[in-house]
Amino acid sequence: MTYSLAKSNAHFRKAVQRLPLGVSSNFRYWGDDKTVYVKHGQGARLWDLDGNCYVDYRLAYGPVILGHRHPNVDEAAREGQSVGTVYALGTEGEYRVAELIHSMMPGAELVRFSNSGTEASMAALRLARGVTGKDHYVTFEGSYHGLFDGSMWRLDLENQKPGEEPQLMPYGAGVPGLSRELFWQVPYNDANKLEDVLRRHGDKIAAVLIEPILGNCCGIAPAPDFLRAVRELATRYNVLMIVDEVKTGFRVGKGGAQELYGVEADIFTLAKAMANGYPIAAVCGKEAIMRRFGQGVAHGGTYTAQAMSLGAAEATLTLLRDTTALADIAAYGRRMQAGMTAILGARGIPHSFAGHPSMGGLFFRQSPPTNYRDWKQSDYRFYDALAANLIARGIMCEPDSREPWFISASHDQACLDETLKTFEEAVDVTLGDIGRASLWTDTARTPAPVAA
Ligand SMILES: Cc1ncc(COP(=O)(O)O)c(C=O)c1O
Repeated sequence: MTYSLAKSNAHFRKAVQRLPLGVSSNFRYWGDDKTVYVKHGQGARLWDLDGNCYVDYRLAYGPVILGHRHPNVDEAAREGQSVGTVYALGTEGEYRVAELIHSMMPGAELVRFSNSGTEASMAALRLARGVTGKDHYVTFEGSYHGLFDGSMWRLDLENQKPGEEPQLMPYGAGVPGLSRELFWQVPYNDANKLEDVLRRHGDKIAAVLIEPILGNCCGIAPAPDFLRAVRELATRYNVLMIVDEVKTGFRVGKGGAQELYGVEADIFTLAKAMANGYPIAAVCGKEAIMRRFGQGVAHGGTYTAQAMSLGAAEATLTLLRDTTALADIAAYGRRMQAGMTAILGARGIPHSFAGHPSMGGLFFRQSPPTNYRDWKQSDYRFYDALAANLIARGIMCEPDSREPWFISASHDQACLDETLKTFEEAVDVTLGDIGRASLWTDTARTPAPVAA
C-alpha cells in the first residue's frame, strides 16, 4: 500500500485557517503536505487520520514512558478527577507524589510542582537568583531548557566568520536582546571553559544550568567526570548547580541522570516521564534552598498540582519505581542499536549512537559528537533522508537528527522486529536515493571511500 497523507493534508488546509501553521507548536508543522495529524495511539504505536500505523519513537519528545493510553495511568488520572480540577488550595495528592519522587531521587528533599518543563526551568532559575542574590547564569551550547526568553539563544554556526568565535542568536523574533545580557554559554563537555567564565564572572553568576545529557542535541552524553567537574566548580565558585532532568528524569534510571553519573544538584527539574504525558513538572532540591520558596522567592500558578496530573504521576512513578520498566526500556534500546549496527555495518556505513539507550541519537559517523559545534560540523543529510523514508514506512522517528529516539515500556519484540525490518529497507532506499556522498569519515571530513 502506498503511503498517503491525503486526510492529514485535507485537515491541514482546514486547520491552517484558524491555527498558525495549522498546529499548536511550531515544531509540529512539517510542511503543508507533510504535517501529520494523530487519530489515536495505543502502547508503542500511533495511528494518523489516514489510518497509517507507526511505531512511535518520538513519544511526544519523551514523556510517554509507559506507552500511549496506559490503563493504570489513565485510570489514576480519572480517579484524580474525582477530587476535582483546581481549587487554589492544596490537596493530599501533591504530598504523595512528592514522597514518591523523594523515594526515587533522595536529592529531592523538597518538591514544588509546575505545569511544564519551561515553567520549572524558570522557577529553578528564579530560586537560584533569590538564594544567591546574583542575576546571571551559565548554560551550555546545544542545550534547551524551554521556550522562555533566557533560554531561546543558540550558537549561529552558519554565519561564523573564519577565525572568529560564533555568535549567539535568538531563536526568532520577539526575544529581547536584553535577555542575552544575563547569561554565558560555554561548550558542553568543556570544564576548562566553564571554569574560565566562573573565575572571571562568578561574583555575578547565580547558577550553572545544565542538561546532564544533551537531550535536544542527539542525546550527547557527558564525558567521564564532566558532570562531577561541573559540580566541583559550582561549589568552588559559590554558584548553584541546576540539573535539568526534564528529559532524563525517570527515563535513564530510577534516580535520573544524577544517580547514573554520581552527581547531586542543588536544584533540579523534572517533567516529561513523570506522568506519562499528563502535564506536570517539578522543581526539587536541597531543603535549605527550597525553603526559600515562600521566604521571599515567588512561585505559584493557577494550574500547578492539578488533581488529574497528580493521579497520573502517582501511578506512573509507582510503576517505574516498583518494576523493571526502565531497565527493560534500556535493554530494548541496546537491542535496537545492535540490530541497526548489524544492518549498517553490513553496508559499510559508518555510524554511532550518542547518549543513553532509552533516548539515543543515531549519528552517521564513526564516533558520536561531544558537543554542539561537533554535531553541526558533520553532515546529517543521510539521517534526514533516512528519517523521511522510515516515517513513510511506519517508523515514527524524529525528522530532526538532533532529537533522540525515545523508547517506552510498551515497545516489545514485535515492534523491534518491525523496526529493524523497516530500517533495513529504508537504509537501502536511502542509499539508492542519495548514495553515499553524505557519509563522512571521522578522520577526514570527506565522503567514506565505499562505492555505491
Ligand atoms: C531538557 C529540557 N528542559 C526543558 C524543556 C521544556 O519543557 P516543556 O516543553 O514541557 O516546557 C524541555 C523540552 O523539551 C527539555 O527537553
